[in-house]
Amino acid sequence: MLKERHLIDPMDLTIEETENLLELAENIYLNPEKYSKLCEGKILATLFYEPSTRTRLSFEAAMMRLGGKVIGFSEASFSSVSKGESIADTIRTISCYADVAVIRHPKEGAPKIASMYSSIPVVNAGDGGHQHPTQTLTDLMTIKSLKGSLSNLTVGFCGDLKFGRTVHSLIKSLSRYENNKMILISPEELKIPNYIRTEILEKNNIEYDERENLEEVIALLDILYMTRVQKERFFNEEDYIRLKDSYILDEEKIKKASKNMNILHPLPRVNEISYEIDKDPRACYFKQAEYGMYVRMALILKLLGVM
Ligand code: NCD
Repeated sequence: MLKERHLIDPMDLTIEETENLLELAENIYLNPEKYSKLCEGKILATLFYEPSTRTRLSFEAAMMRLGGKVIGFSEASFSSVSKGESIADTIRTISCYADVAVIRHPKEGAPKIASMYSSIPVVNAGDGGHQHPTQTLTDLMTIKSLKGSLSNLTVGFCGDLKFGRTVHSLIKSLSRYENNKMILISPEELKIPNYIRTEILEKNNIEYDERENLEEVIALLDILYMTRVQKERFFNEEDYIRLKDSYILDEEKIKKASKNMNILHPLPRVNEISYEIDKDPRACYFKQAEYGMYVRMALILKLLGVM
């Protein structure tokens, strides 16, 4: 039962709970009317201490499409945080006003701290360069709909694997399914953090390969998961400028890929996928963004114990 639990890390969900959520999301996607009043009288709070388009708005739209209401802030400067309030005090207060809270924060671990002081479910909507479990649910729903399964896949992660929290969470989740192979493509400075390598990939005997060149491996991939270089996590602008255009997927580069390879991206994109790729049938990132709302509807229903 997910009722009254927190979702901080993708591993907070068992495989079975994850699959139940994906199945519910799929049912909502096919028949949204059936679910449109289930959260009447309920309130979702969105506490966003960092910018967001898809995550915040898809959560808000999700709650509204379930018949519930939404409160919150999209910039910390509009709340008492700017007066120096701690996240513990903020969440204690929000717990009195809302039924579920969604938190994005630049500090790794902040939603976890909030959950320790909260009497309502807390969802991590991205904590620094750490984890982003609801993007992972979105990614899993997309992969499952495209490939019919979450096993036996060769997945290429390309770009900023060091700071990309969506990458960390998706690697964790995909490592639980059978026979997945990961190809990790990044510049030397943006390789995955060591804890992902040792505690997830090596501990679970996942086959993986770390590469710098996308073109050398693109033909092997079932899924190519592109990511943005996370400008906001860099200590100096020079490094960002040097690394930001390390990978630009264009028509030329994609020629070597299989016609069955799908391109995912959590978005926002900057330069890493050229606009000419959007019309390629393998480009699935806008479908992925659409699914994000349905998985969040499923998650809200489960956390509130409505379903
Ligand atoms: C991602 C994030 O915030 O981590 N975006 C999202 O939630 N869809 C990816 C990113 O910002 O690059």
